Amino acid sequence: MEIEVTVNGVVRGVEVRPHETLLALLRDRLGLRGAKNGCSEGECGACTVLLDGAPIDACIYPAAACAGRSVTTVEGLAPPDGELTALQRAFVDSGAVQCGFCTPGLLMTLHALLAERAAPSEAEVRRAIVGNICRCTGYAHVVDAVAQAVGARR
Ligand code: FES
Repeated sequence: MEIEVTVNGVVRGVEVRPHETLLALLRDRLGLRGAKNGCSEGECGACTVLLDGAPIDACIYPAAACAGRSVTTVEGLAPPDGELTALQRAFVDSGAVQCGFCTPGLLMTLHALLAERAAPSEAEVRRAIVGNICRCTGYAHVVDAVAQAVGARR
């Protein structure tokens, strides 16, 4: 079926196949490879993108269900001039990017959290990222990065 979906602020008309996932549409046909294919079961969070501002697992979300809606991927976070967001900069500065496989998903989850909560507590940060598995950082650097980003916004 033909759908229109807004991806990173641009309205795209795309033909989607039955059972095609949003992750497959983004990565394989729209060339947006930021969201990663980790478990393919909606468990690891590496594929997290925002749908109308809310984090979802793109690997299990039907592309057809995105008709008329707005998808944001990690490629859409930074402004066109390429300057990193405060959260992205804080990830780099805090050592929260190690192998990087989880990083796009974590950024999207935390971007949504910070849109709702200007200064989340450590417990709120840890609760928000419970669905984003990171094998490298032990999560402490991620929590530090959020604190740094919140401080930079003050
Ligand atoms: Fe390697 Fe998170 S930085 S899995």
